[in-house]
Amino acid sequence: MRDAENLFGIPTSRIDGVDKVTGAARYASDEPVVNPAYGYFVTSTIARGRISAFKLDRAKAVRGVLDILTYQNVGNEAAPPVGPDGGPTTTTLESDRIWHDGQIIAVVVAETYEAAREAANRVEVVYVEEKPSASFDSPGVESVPHKPQKSPDPKKGDAAGAFAAAAVKFEARYSTPTQHHNPIELFTATCAWDGPKLTVYEPSQFMWGTKNSVAARLRVNPEQVRAVSRYIGGAFGSKGPNPRTVWVAIAAKRVGRPVKLVPTRDQSFTIATYRAETRQHIKLGASADGKLTSLIHEGWEVTSRPSGYNVSGVESTARMYACPNIATAVNVVHADRNTPGYMRAPPETPYMFALESAMDELAYELKMDPVELRRVNDTQTDPVDGLPFSSRSLMQCFDQAAAKFGWRHRDARPGVMRDGEWLIGFGCATACYPSNLGPAAVRVSLTPDGKATVGLAGHEIGTGAYTLVAISTARSLGLHVDDVTVHMGDSDLPPIMVAGGSNNAASAANVVVKACDELKQRIAKAAVDAADSPLRGADADKLTLTDGKLLGPSGESEPLARAVSRTGHRIEAYAEYIPEGLPPSAVADMSKGNPLMLGGAGRKDVAAFAFGAHFVEVRVHSRTREIRVPRVVSAFAAGTIVNPKAAYSQFMGGAIWGLSSALLEETEMDEGSARYINDNLADYLIPVNADVPSVEIIMVPEKDERVNPLGIKGIGEIGIVGMNAAVANAVFHATGKRVRELPIRAEKLL
Ligand code: MOS
Repeated sequence: MRDAENLFGIPTSRIDGVDKVTGAARYASDEPVVNPAYGYFVTSTIARGRISAFKLDRAKAVRGVLDILTYQNVGNEAAPPVGPDGGPTTTTLESDRIWHDGQIIAVVVAETYEAAREAANRVEVVYVEEKPSASFDSPGVESVPHKPQKSPDPKKGDAAGAFAAAAVKFEARYSTPTQHHNPIELFTATCAWDGPKLTVYEPSQFMWGTKNSVAARLRVNPEQVRAVSRYIGGAFGSKGPNPRTVWVAIAAKRVGRPVKLVPTRDQSFTIATYRAETRQHIKLGASADGKLTSLIHEGWEVTSRPSGYNVSGVESTARMYACPNIATAVNVVHADRNTPGYMRAPPETPYMFALESAMDELAYELKMDPVELRRVNDTQTDPVDGLPFSSRSLMQCFDQAAAKFGWRHRDARPGVMRDGEWLIGFGCATACYPSNLGPAAVRVSLTPDGKATVGLAGHEIGTGAYTLVAISTARSLGLHVDDVTVHMGDSDLPPIMVAGGSNNAASAANVVVKACDELKQRIAKAAVDAADSPLRGADADKLTLTDGKLLGPSGESEPLARAVSRTGHRIEAYAEYIPEGLPPSAVADMSKGNPLMLGGAGRKDVAAFAFGAHFVEVRVHSRTREIRVPRVVSAFAAGTIVNPKAAYSQFMGGAIWGLSSALLEETEMDEGSARYINDNLADYLIPVNADVPSVEIIMVPEKDERVNPLGIKGIGEIGIVGMNAAVANAVFHATGKRVRELPIRAEKLL
């Protein structure tokens, strides 16, 4: 392992912070294009059926309308879309078929946004309508076992037998609701053709994925398509290759000028993906001392009719605790809905809610402290595959957070702690997330004036990615962060994996450090061979780039400018990083748009996960049942932390989204029409500052020599995981009422 401690760990302000707060940082739809026309989606008002006719006369009569695209005039111009799981998904303009409410069925193009919107509102559609099935309990849904993607569902021993024989048994059903992303930046696309070349300005967390997906749908050579997305206003799984963009590209070709399309907030609920509702059934068997003897976890997840997309969080829950007998299963429930997709910690957020609620319930059955129940079941070995965890500091997280939180002041009896009219509850839960790695490529150049330029098609989804790349470069080359210029968000740059699965920090830092090491090698080699260098004859491997100098082991040095100019007026390195375990073709495969990641339980050598612990105090009003969360303390151990300042925010943001997920967020459905009701930011509840008075984050030091060369585990998603259970557990402690269906709102406590 390279000594990551010498490279990282210095809190660093974002290099793009000023650009972001002054408006200089551009979202994709803010990128200027010459003479754009404006697009507007027409979406279906039924959830199931067929289109029998369009009546477009009134729409075409709006002044400034240039074109109206429907399945009738462009349907065969695009290949079918691919879902988030790589399989089939709901279609848009390909045919007359309606799969879900709010499906894109036409694109109006006009001289102005207002004209396009007006015309879209005047498009009349005649449907042949069928009765839709909205969700789990609707007649007509179809439940089938999912197709496990990589390996079979985790299973070990005889879980049913062990449960039957267990000294202590606990069993319950849990459910989590539909949730929608609602990023600040909407799901926009601007498409501009220059002859055969297409540029797509669109928020994307996988630049090379967007490039390849648009090319494949248009049936053109990927080299003709460039994707640009320099700053992204919220992504977290929602902004990847999608079914929409291709129609904007086709519209731009038809009208012979760029087309810009900014959908509305309510359209975002049906034209993009979302977190699907789940139901889960858990059985835990334990011995009297709390050791788990059986874990059975089965999930059901809603999806669209054609898509088999599911998150299968049992992959993680089966690996949380030592247990000799494990059985898991996952089912998909096909309904007349848009296809769901990734949303921050897609598998763990819903599935750890069930497991960590059940662990808390088991602790009460056993009359054990919930922290101690985790301790007696802690393990350094993946209970399913028998592999060692690359590192696992779960109990350090519990212990440090518990101490800071004041867990020892908890009276274990529910409903006993009070402050006047407020019932007080303490709750805790485990957080985890697989530590993934993807392939990456980068180009780094350095000039004698000590300025470095880095280019990779990375993604600034709000995590501080530009800064992470600048830190990795600066620390490797002995420069200041300000001396580094970072270019990302453009598929003309070398590819990196999708900014998903929390892989990008590790993938980007590892490839950048690799390229910088190569630069240093070449600079050092030139110096030790040079007659005029004080480092002549030294061992090139022992030289370092430190504080603007090329430094020898016994302190001899020369200025960076001199050392670099010896290699030319500019020295450049291109590097590729392929994580151990991925095929040598990984970068080439990724360049074709195929996502490849390795981590969690997918590795042959170790189980790679980050861990954490949340502690929450809730106050429930004894009469109104209003729920407040005055404080949260969460601890995480996630290997090397590149930038503690950004990391603190990332963990905190995760914890806050977890609170939101526990108490507020739910997309509500009208069952009869299979339509979302609260598809706006007024009715889709999210927390404001007053809902989150105090969140303290502890970053537990952890040195992981096995997870990857720099020991970085990635922290994008773990912060949200388990928070929903910690809140539910605290609500139970406060009130004696166990809520197993999220969100936990006052009416569920009456
Ligand atoms: Mo994340 S939901 O894998 O972008």
